[in-house]
Amino acid sequence: MMLILHQDEKQPREGNTLQKQGDGMGKKTDEIVTLSQHLKRSGVDPDLRRLITSFAFVALDAQHQFPKYLRGTMGEPNKYGEAVARLDEWVNGYLCDRLIKTGLVRKIYSEELKEPLLGHGGAPFVVAMDPLDGSSNIVSNNAFGTIVGIYREDLPQKGRKLVAAFYKLYGPVNTFVYTAGSGTHEFVKHYDGLGNAQFLLLGENIRIPEPGEVFGLGGDPMDWSQAFLRFAKDLFKKERMKARYSGTFAADFSQVLHRGGIFAYPSTKKSPRGKLRLFYEAQPMAFIMEQAGGASWSGSGSLLDAVDKDVDARVPLYLGSKALVKKVKKALE
Ligand code: AHG
Ligand code: MN
Ligand code: MN
Repeated sequence: MMLILHQDEKQPREGNTLQKQGDGMGKKTDEIVTLSQHLKRSGVDPDLRRLITSFAFVALDAQHQFPKYLRGTMGEPNKYGEAVARLDEWVNGYLCDRLIKTGLVRKIYSEELKEPLLGHGGAPFVVAMDPLDGSSNIVSNNAFGTIVGIYREDLPQKGRKLVAAFYKLYGPVNTFVYTAGSGTHEFVKHYDGLGNAQFLLLGENIRIPEPGEVFGLGGDPMDWSQAFLRFAKDLFKKERMKARYSGTFAADFSQVLHRGGIFAYPSTKKSPRGKLRLFYEAQPMAFIMEQAGGASWSGSGSLLDAVDKDVDARVPLYLGSKALVKKVKKALE
């Protein structure tokens, strides 16, 4: 069975005269490889393997329950003062509960937890997560995701200390993209003849295309700096790229990872630290992006080197193809 999609026949877009590097799809293979097999053959340690696999399947089980929680918000806002959808609250509770049950987690930090949740004292891992990324897309039935970073040491820590990161995208098909420090790999959910779900390898060692095709920029353009506004205009005018912004970071990130380009939620006049969260969103995705040959920037260096004492801190975020991250740096520095 052919599981690896490819773009052999794809022509470069008009205006993109440079030779494209990386097809954003990963290595092609006819071999059927499950997520657990891939983790094992990549030499990932058994505890970490177990945690990543459990997470993938727990998120999958959770998805079966989504229809029950599609409408409504909780009375109380979260620690960022944002409305909490009923689904945000339910997914957070479900993931936390199942993760603690693995016995592998010492502490869970979550966008939807006012205080970190304590697990098993001697357990090897600390988890930081955005359980449901893109909750404004619940009502409209657009894609949303789950973003997770796994550390051995307690937070706050630099992203360089991540031992693994992954995101799950609940889209037309359900994908699971992970890195444990040796490349970025993508899996897709399949069902076997007996109705059992499995994650099968879709692309190994994904390389983000250079130059890129798409961009997603968050925040209110009226609140952007003049320099960022000029950079944004150049993406249309000079780079001849297409705008792609869904309001779900995981979904927009996935476009950039596969097609090349840039995603940014910049520092703005009203929110100098942007909107996205350093530990729950930025660090895990920066790890995945850099492992795919892309780059990240926080306004002062790689997002993997950004530090903050506050585990709930926000951070200006720019990530994508190396050449474009270099351009945004030059425009803003
Ligand atoms: P969350 O749903 O976890 O709060 O995250 C939403 C984030 C991110 O997914 C997205 O890129 C951004 O917020 C969208 O913000 P705007 O609505 O300001 O565009
Ligand atoms: Mn989010
Ligand atoms: Mn969220």
